[in-house]
Amino acid sequence: ERLPALLRLMPKAELHIHIEGSLEPELIFRLAQRNGVTLPYADVEALRAAYAFTDLQSFLDIYYAGASVLLKEQDFFDMAWAYLEKAAADNVVHAEIFFDPQTHTARGVPFETVIKGLNHAVHRAHAELGVSAKLILCFLRHLSEEEAFATLEEALPWRHHFIGVGLDSSEVGHPPSKFERVFARCRELGLHIVAHAGEEGPPAYIVEALDLLQSERIDHGVRSLEDPALVARLAAARTPLTVCPLSNVKLCVFDDLTQHNIGALLDAGLCAMVNSDDPAYFGGYMNQNFVELFAAQPQLTARHAYQLALNSFEASFVDADQKRVWQ
Ligand code: ADE
Ligand code: ZN
Repeated sequence: ERLPALLRLMPKAELHIHIEGSLEPELIFRLAQRNGVTLPYADVEALRAAYAFTDLQSFLDIYYAGASVLLKEQDFFDMAWAYLEKAAADNVVHAEIFFDPQTHTARGVPFETVIKGLNHAVHRAHAELGVSAKLILCFLRHLSEEEAFATLEEALPWRHHFIGVGLDSSEVGHPPSKFERVFARCRELGLHIVAHAGEEGPPAYIVEALDLLQSERIDHGVRSLEDPALVARLAAARTPLTVCPLSNVKLCVFDDLTQHNIGALLDAGLCAMVNSDDPAYFGGYMNQNFVELFAAQPQLTARHAYQLALNSFEASFVDADQKRVWQ
């Protein structure tokens, strides 16, 4: 069996990872103790036992609770460093990392504390792990556009510390159209644009993300296959879909990995690739996603593995010279 070794060893980029979703239960408890935060779970095992999700919202409730232990710059550094060490071990050579500032500023943690801790880890990873990493600020779509504008304002002194903006949290009922004006402002600022769409929400949300936000990539996008005209459009434009196989199973988007449609997305000519989304909650990091996916779908071959890795670099926001090195 040479395929799992290939999957593990091939260089790859990760483009859909929420840094707060890399917070392992052990680190949650360590930070809770360090910061004097009381958790509604007795121990690591009790917390892990709560990771039985029925949909996106049931996950988000626990994910936001877990993030409540993050208070100091050192906490954000420790979280990001732990992820970057795991990424390096999985031969992730480039990562574009989402962070959710509103989860922290709403608890009174200054934006500056969040960005400084994350930025420190990003710089150290480049120097010590050889991983290039960039940050993407995500707006929480269950909050208002006004709150997104306020967050953007707080972020502007740190504009050079992040390369783009995204849209995450509860999808259904919060369409991209709700954030049209704030994303227009972000485009004026020269920020890259991405958005979660078509995870639980309908293909129409993907169309909105493209037309109204001018999203350069779609995060998840697995429901695009329900709309043939949309598939043709995504294929023609090579719009990347940052697909997250283990996440989709844990959040009941697909019954199990044998049912996942990533093979069909590739066969339709779409620029899809594998990502981990929230690896501490969904059962594994990058290589775990690859190995479990390929084990569940024997029709996926080394050619598919190569295409997924190639797509991850094509879809990244690195400059053309660096892309030539990696592709
Ligand atoms: N925030 C963290 N993970 C997410 C996901 N899979 N979908 C939407 N928002 C998220
Ligand atoms: Zn996500």
